[in-house]
Order: sequence, then C-alpha cells, then structure tokens
Amino acid sequence: MLPITAATTHTVAKRSFSFRLCLLAQFAALGLLTACGGGGDSSATTTPATPDNPAAMSVAAQLGEKIFKDVSLSASGKMSCATCHDPDHAHAQTNDLSVQLGGANLDVPGFRAVPSLRYLNLTPAFFFAADGTPTGGFTHDGRVNTLAAQAETPLLAGHEMANKDRADVVAKLQRASYVNEFKSAFGNAIFDNTDTAFERILFALQQYQKEDPDFHPYDSKYDQFLAGKAQLNAAELRGLALFNNPTKGNCAACHTSAKGADGSAPLFTDFTYDNLGVPRNSKIPATADPAYFDLGLCGPDRRDLTERSDLCGAFKVPTLRNVATRKVFFHNGRFSTLREAVGFYVRRDTNPEEWFPLGADGNVQKFNDLPLAYARNVNTTEVPYNRQRGMAAALTPDEVEDVISFLGTLTDGYKP
Ligand code: HEC
Ligand code: HEC
Repeated sequence: MLPITAATTHTVAKRSFSFRLCLLAQFAALGLLTACGGGGDSSATTTPATPDNPAAMSVAAQLGEKIFKDVSLSASGKMSCATCHDPDHAHAQTNDLSVQLGGANLDVPGFRAVPSLRYLNLTPAFFFAADGTPTGGFTHDGRVNTLAAQAETPLLAGHEMANKDRADVVAKLQRASYVNEFKSAFGNAIFDNTDTAFERILFALQQYQKEDPDFHPYDSKYDQFLAGKAQLNAAELRGLALFNNPTKGNCAACHTSAKGADGSAPLFTDFTYDNLGVPRNSKIPATADPAYFDLGLCGPDRRDLTERSDLCGAFKVPTLRNVATRKVFFHNGRFSTLREAVGFYVRRDTNPEEWFPLGADGNVQKFNDLPLAYARNVNTTEVPYNRQRGMAAALTPDEVEDVISFLGTLTDGYKP
C-alpha cells in the first residue's frame, strides 16, 4: 500500500510558486538530489568521467555504452536503445513520429513520445511530498524508480525491443563481441544465473547514463550565460523574463530555471506532475478505440495509483533542456512545433477551438483526451492556463516568439 497523504482532488493543480521553490530547497537540504536515481550496487569502480576523458567511465558504464548501442539485443536485430534515444539528438527520437515502431518487424506502434535521456541522473525515486504532491520517478508516469529498473521495459516490451524474456536477452548478449569484457567485469560465472546476468546488463545501462557526461554536459548557451561566459540577445532575455514572470509565462513554477541554493545548475523540471489537458492524438493507433485513455499517474501503464482518480491525466514535468531539438511535444507527441506547444499553454482556454475538435452538438470538446469525469483534474487555476474565453492570452504572439527564442538557449553544445 502506498501512503495516501493529505492529497485531495486538484492537489496537483493548486500548488503555488513558493511551494515549488521550497520543495526544491527541501530536496537540497535533505541531500535527496544527490542520493537519487540510484539503485544497483556500486561495486564497479568509478572514476569520474569528464568531457575530455569519457574513457574514465567505470568498466560497467563502458559496457553499458556498448549495450545501449547494440542492435543485436532486439527481436528485430535492428533496434537498440540508441535507435529511439539517439546520442546525436539529445538522446531522443530522430524522426517526427508521435510514437515509434518496434517489435520483431518494426511495425508495432508504441503509446508515448520518446523523452530525452539527458539530465535524468538527478531524478529522485517516486514519492509523495509532505503535502501529497507526487514527485520524481522515471518515464512519463514515474512508475519506475531507478535507471536500472527502467531499462528492463524497453528490452522486453513487445512494441520496443521485444525480446521474449530475460533469458532471451542474456543469450543474445552471450553472442555479442564484448562478451568477454562482460565476463571480466562481472566474473566468469556471471552467466550461471540468468537473473544475475540480466541485472548486470541493467546496471551497466544505468551506469552509462549516469557517468557519461554526454548525458549531462551543462554546456548550453544558458549555462554559459549563468556562468558569465555568454550573453543572451534581446529576444532571449525578454523570453527568459516572461518564462520566469509569475503573472506572464510562469513556466519556471514547474520548469525550474534558477540555480539551486547550492549553486547547482537548473534542470528545468521540479520533478512534479501536472495535468495540462493536452488534446487527443489520433496519430497514436491505440486511440482508434474510444475507450482508450492514457491517464498517466493513474494508469494504464502505472498500476499502483489506479484508485487515485484525482491524479488521472497527470504526467511528469519534463526537463526543457534541449526541447528546441524535439520534433514532437508532450507525452502523446500531439504537437510538432514549439510554437504550437507554447501557444497551447497560453491559448488553451481563450481559444479552445484552435486545439480541440467540435462535437456533434457544435461545442468544442475541451480536454478530449480524458474521460469526462476526469476533465476537472485539468489545471485551470495556475498561470498561464487560468484564463477563459474572451480574456487576453497570458502571452501575446510576440511574447510567445520571445519564449521560444529563450528555449533555444537550452540546447547542449553551444559554441559562441
Ligand atoms: C522503440 C523506442 C524505444 C527504445 C528502443 C527504447 N526506449 Fe527508452 N523510452 C521510450 C519511450 C516511448 C519512453 C517513455 C515511456 C513511458 O513514459 O512509459 C522511454 C523512456 C525511457 C526512460 C525514462 C525517461 C524519463 O524521462 O524518465 C529511460 C531512462 C529510457 N527510456 C532508457 C532506455 C534504455 C536504456 C533503452 C534500451 C535498453 C531504451 N530506453 C530503449 C522509447 C524507447
Ligand atoms: C504547472 C506546471 C507547469 C507550468 C506552469 C508549465 N509547464 Fe510545461 N510542462 C508541464 C508538464 C506536466 C509537462 C508534460 C505534459 C505532458 O506530457 O502531457 C510539460 C511539458 C512542456 C513542454 C513539452 C516538452 C516535451 O519534452 O515534450 C514544453 C515545450 C513546455 N512544457 C513548455 C512550457 C512553457 C514555455 C511554459 C510557460 C509558458 C510551461 N511549460 C509552463 C508542466 C508545466
């Protein structure tokens, strides 16, 4: 049983700006930010890797890189982690499909857009904060607590790498060119026990993601600006101010943009969840069934919170680092440009017909990717989505462009 705390309907919606900041301070104070995303054991020696010396990764992490890029570990023989999480595309998808195609013949569609794997190393395991705010965890619904545990899903999911079972993956690895390195890292007897061998694979994948600085380079224009090494131009500075302003974009209320109390770089997520009421995406084949709904925290993939109807439709706040490199946005990949995604935030309620279809009765079917009973879970109280028809949008079209300019400064690898 999960501890059900003071959570009430609309818990997610009602959190205030100051609460979010204090939550982060709390993390820092408890040292949670550094103690998280862990799991696995740390028996393999770890030498800190730097951008200049990635080879200083632990043996496990170096193996993890090979496993991450090995297409032979899939039923198709053509798909690896890197297929969907391409290192050259901020560790996210390269194409503009809402959902990827996997399985033995690469024709089985998935259910959600591919998140970037950058800056996940500080994600805490899932927990309810003292006031009931769901926080942390991996995937769009936070159902997984460590990067190691997360890696099991794609290896076995029928719509992804589609291996039959753990033994199937381990058998494939035994035929890989790096099998001897695997044995010298984890012992010659490692293949005597399938579960142990499989868990070493997951551990290696986790260590690679944690140790390789490519996953968290902190070298965007904005990082360099914070360090006093680069200037933002006028549009970017206006965008940053709008992003932070609690009465304009208010984006920083969830997508943290300021350094932590300890000087740590902002991750552009506070690890919480929110219900944005993103429109249904008919490009996801599963939506052909009118009864199909992806409700995030309350299922169907996540199964421990199905009773928490107040959480239905809430998805994790993703980092906005590298967001300008994405070709699909939000958990269901409904939008294909940043202009639409930001426009949706500020004109969702003032101009709903721009985003949602008309019903047979001629009325706009707002929040049409949620069963009617859960439409009330959508956040309609927090800036920028606290408007109604007839009111001015939180950001003008020019201001939307400025915010987009600012978001462009969050792309890794900035060279002045
Ligand atoms: C077919 C495409 C595909 C492949 C292959 C794939 N992933 Fe993913 N990955 C996804 C999608 C889609 C999600 C979001 C899943 C969800 O929310 O349930 C995801 C989520 C993740 C996350 C959680 C990210 C977050 O923001 O919390 C991690 C970590 C991850 N994948 C690692 C891996 C690893 C490691 C592999 C290889 C073993 C892998 N993925 C293979 C598509 C893929
Ligand atoms: C109350 C919390 C909250 C506020 C305020 C907020 N966001 Fe978000 N943001 C989220 C959540 C939650 C998601 C993921 C929603 C989903 O996948 O359905 C998200 C997703 C996004 C995405 C898509 C990222 C991706 O990888 O697909 C963009 C872009 C974005 N936000 C930009 C903004 C901007 C710009 C603002 C200010 C105008 C803003 N957000 C304000 C919570 C918030």
